[in-house]
Amino acid sequence: MDTLIIKGGMPLHGEVTISGAKNAALPIMAAALLTPEPCTIHRVPNLTDVRFMAQILTWLGAKVSFEGDTLRIEARKVQGIGDYDLVRKMRASICIMGPLLARLKSATVSLPGGCVIGARPINLHLKGFEALGARVNIDGGYVHARARKLVGTEIFLGGRAGSTVLGTANVMMAATLAEGTTIIQSAACEPEIVDLANFLNAMGARIVGAGSPTITIHGVKELHGAEHEIIPDRIETATYAIAAAATDGEITIRGSNPGHLTAVIDKLTEAGVRIERRGPDLKVRRGGRLKPVDVTTLPYAGFPTDAQAQMMALLTLAPGISIITERIFESRFMHVSELARLGADIELEGPSAIVKGGRPLSGAPVMASDLRASAALVIAGLAAKGTTRVLRVYHIDRGYENIDGKLRALGARIERVSES
Ligand code: EPZ
Repeated sequence: MDTLIIKGGMPLHGEVTISGAKNAALPIMAAALLTPEPCTIHRVPNLTDVRFMAQILTWLGAKVSFEGDTLRIEARKVQGIGDYDLVRKMRASICIMGPLLARLKSATVSLPGGCVIGARPINLHLKGFEALGARVNIDGGYVHARARKLVGTEIFLGGRAGSTVLGTANVMMAATLAEGTTIIQSAACEPEIVDLANFLNAMGARIVGAGSPTITIHGVKELHGAEHEIIPDRIETATYAIAAAATDGEITIRGSNPGHLTAVIDKLTEAGVRIERRGPDLKVRRGGRLKPVDVTTLPYAGFPTDAQAQMMALLTLAPGISIITERIFESRFMHVSELARLGADIELEGPSAIVKGGRPLSGAPVMASDLRASAALVIAGLAAKGTTRVLRVYHIDRGYENIDGKLRALGARIERVSES
């Protein structure tokens, strides 16, 4: 397993280019199962989760090939059973169900397990499939969905946190080949859903309303191949902006889409960070003392849960009390105990973390737990005095392309060592 060794205290300077969005790439890769024709997808990030999804598609019978950051997928013939071990290891693979159900009228996928951030149920996905006419049952750790045909209908997909991102993706994909019109109410509005809908429409689907809480899908007979470029990763963008602020540096972030992270830019500005938008680029520097702020994670366009841990790392440096409330997942505070090892003073109170910021952090060995918690530990390590070792870096490689390389290019003293 790899470890990142970080010698903190170096302000970040220079430029970083944002990769394609992981959470757009994964459902878009699954959407290529909807047609036997080849699909070409550009700006695909080089991540373990993406390579994993490629393995799953190959298992299902698709031909998958990478050429740099361009991915070609040809699902001429597919079978509808997702390999138990492969699917169980990556929750996002659940989004192969919608395409398989639409294409084959049958899909069997291992039940995705929960993870450190929560139970991660899929009841809303299954509710959507049943509303379209599928029979769903769970047996031996697999979830099966079968349908004689899929018929469009109106579906309310609201859940405990307001909406479901992959649930919306799954039902939208299934509905593209249903007979008649499907209306998804309380749909997720994330930019990744819009990117998926744009790809599906390029394939010949007829989807309107993506990005709003009401998405209408007029079913079509078949879909054809398409070419598409993935949107930039808004969470990677947020992560580097926060790292620049935490290290009192000044960086330019290239190739982002600032319009996808207005809540993050708003909160960072309130915390005293200077952010200038220049088209697809962001210039970020800490303008003086950091100020404490309160953050609540919400569905898009609210503050994204995937940037909550990184923001907490920053707010440990802001003198005063910041309250961070997590409204999307039931236990997304794994990073709190690890940040405490670096000297952070954080108390948990139900869904909120009370951050008493302002004490300088000092380096220590810390353990990565989930993807974004790991990013928070790297940010804290960059700001801390002394050396921080972040263990189990495979969590980070799931969602950040070449994070140590990109940080070194920004002047960070960070290296990756393989430890058995
Ligand atoms: C997507 O996960 C993202 N992953 C997550 O990013 C992100 O944190 C999450 O959306 C919320 O924005 C991908 O896109 C691959 P949800 P998803 O369904 O779709 C509950 C990262 O770090 N829920 O929107 O699985 C669920 O328990 C990852 O990149 C149900 O109750 O999340 C949660 O509390 C982490 N029933 C809430 O909804 C369901 O059927 C939001 O979950 C589905 C979800």
